[in-house]
Amino acid sequence: MCGIFGYVGKQNNASQIVLEGLKLLEYRGYDSWGIAAKIKDERLKMKDFIVEKHIGKIGNALLNSQLSTPNSQLSIGHTRWATHGGVTVKNAHPHLDCTKTIAVVHNGIVENFQELKTELIKKGHRFISETDTEIIPHLVEENLKKEGFATSVRDAFNELKGMNAIVVMNAVSNEIIAAKNGSPLVVGVGKNEFFIASDASGIVKYTRKVIFIKDNEMAILGKNIQILSLPKGKKLRINYETVNWEPEDADKGKYKHFMIKEIYDQPKVIYNIAENYGDQIENFAKIIKDARGTFFIGAGTAYYACIGGAYLFSTVANKHVNVVVASEFNYLENFLNRESLVIALSQSGETIDVVEPITRAKQKKSTVAAITNTLGSSLYRLADHKILLGAGPEKAVASTKAYTAKLSLLLFLAFSLAGRNKEGKKLLVQTDREIRRILDKKNIEKIKKLADKLCRIDHIYTLGRGLSYSTALEAALKIKEVSYIHAEGFAGGELKHGTLALISEGTPCIIFAPIDETYEAIISNAIEIKARGGFVIGISPKRARVFDYWIKINDLKQASLIAQIIPAQLLGYFIAIKKGYDPDKPRNLAKSVTVK
Ligand code: AGP
Repeated sequence: MCGIFGYVGKQNNASQIVLEGLKLLEYRGYDSWGIAAKIKDERLKMKDFIVEKHIGKIGNALLNSQLSTPNSQLSIGHTRWATHGGVTVKNAHPHLDCTKTIAVVHNGIVENFQELKTELIKKGHRFISETDTEIIPHLVEENLKKEGFATSVRDAFNELKGMNAIVVMNAVSNEIIAAKNGSPLVVGVGKNEFFIASDASGIVKYTRKVIFIKDNEMAILGKNIQILSLPKGKKLRINYETVNWEPEDADKGKYKHFMIKEIYDQPKVIYNIAENYGDQIENFAKIIKDARGTFFIGAGTAYYACIGGAYLFSTVANKHVNVVVASEFNYLENFLNRESLVIALSQSGETIDVVEPITRAKQKKSTVAAITNTLGSSLYRLADHKILLGAGPEKAVASTKAYTAKLSLLLFLAFSLAGRNKEGKKLLVQTDREIRRILDKKNIEKIKKLADKLCRIDHIYTLGRGLSYSTALEAALKIKEVSYIHAEGFAGGELKHGTLALISEGTPCIIFAPIDETYEAIISNAIEIKARGGFVIGISPKRARVFDYWIKINDLKQASLIAQIIPAQLLGYFIAIKKGYDPDKPRNLAKSVTVK
């Protein structure tokens, strides 16, 4: 939650660089934003910062202030997802100290901020916001009375309780210092310039050489770079890495929204897995074979991919895995031991509900594996074994391509466990082709037409059985989070155990009916719904008589669960558009949930 971007270097438009960077990070939080910069003006001999803050999304905001002039070489910015303090200009970051020469942006929650604030007020510091963040520049200011900038930041950070990432800028020393024990921060290393950001998407335009700051480390950026350990400040060897994202991957390109761009990215992501992941998949399969007790954990969409994976493992490989929603795993992990294997699925690799139980599992000496989209993320670093999804940056809050990438990997793994790699690969190649067909103009028109029909409804139900159970859950999540229609997904067999009571004249229900062992039973469910007046939307290779509206998905055997989510993703997107909502930034949500 919250996006951070900073620049120090030779270019003269630091605040513009930061603004552009923030736009690419807006998916992390979008209730307010702000930038601080030191304006280079020899005549003015200015030491303090100029700050500009706004409520709402950055959109096409062009800075209409001194910050828009190309004369700064030091700047930080922040796009906020509010935790402490309401959404106001005053509460937007960056926050300053009393001298206005220290500026801070922050991601996390300072749990002991009230005590620290009381102490600082006693010492004469003045506060203008309700945030926990504002204590940080004042703590640094206080420390600067007795020590240098780096030590001041380090000592201030060591006083904070909770999981935090901070970036502190000093107008006097012309330096930026970052420190963290939670939430991601990556440094981009250019020629005589450094970038600091919550992820690499805004950095790759300038450099692919990066340093992922680990928890309990701090980075000092100025004329050169130093990485120190926390809490003591010991100098560390720098570990440079290369990010292989293309700058255009982080951009919407010809599309209006990231969500639709990412929906269209899916065929190539799946094809990449089919073509290039064979060896990795075989190695991963060996780890699963050796484990005694395998657990899949994930949150939200990733959790639904875990459920899909468990059914795939059972159907294809006769292999049992346990599935637990990540935020519950801590309450259910007494039985973990050295022989257990915990596989965490997470697009961002930063979801606190995933990172926390993985840390606990490691403490119990269990083996930990990660299926994530984010190189250098907390989860990536914690895991003993890892596979990157290779989906490219996913920016829309509603996860699409990361979901189908996870399922594709799990399908490939299941086939590998069964010693049928070639079959798995072939199915994925067919899936790539089928999704291209679904994304064809004619089909899109059909789904748009359905979206028009559904945009005024209040409730929608999605049903699937077996491999399609996870599709039903994910379809409901996709529709609800961007269209704000109440959507509930459940196993077809559960219909008569309660939900049928909610079906009345015209209630829309989406039925996932692939040609597999579930077909007859799910069609019976559709008939039961129809008998109560429900409007039945069938997603299936066959047009059943009971369907009021049919979206054709060709039979892909066990891979059907990957392709059949696409119409639901599109439906969510088009309903949101029809209702005038921004599908990339649903209300109250943020892309990566790094606080509990
Ligand atoms: C999906 O559309 C969501 N917005 C959300 O459920 C997401 O999948 C979840 O927060 C987990 O994120 P992760 O994959 O980055 O861990």
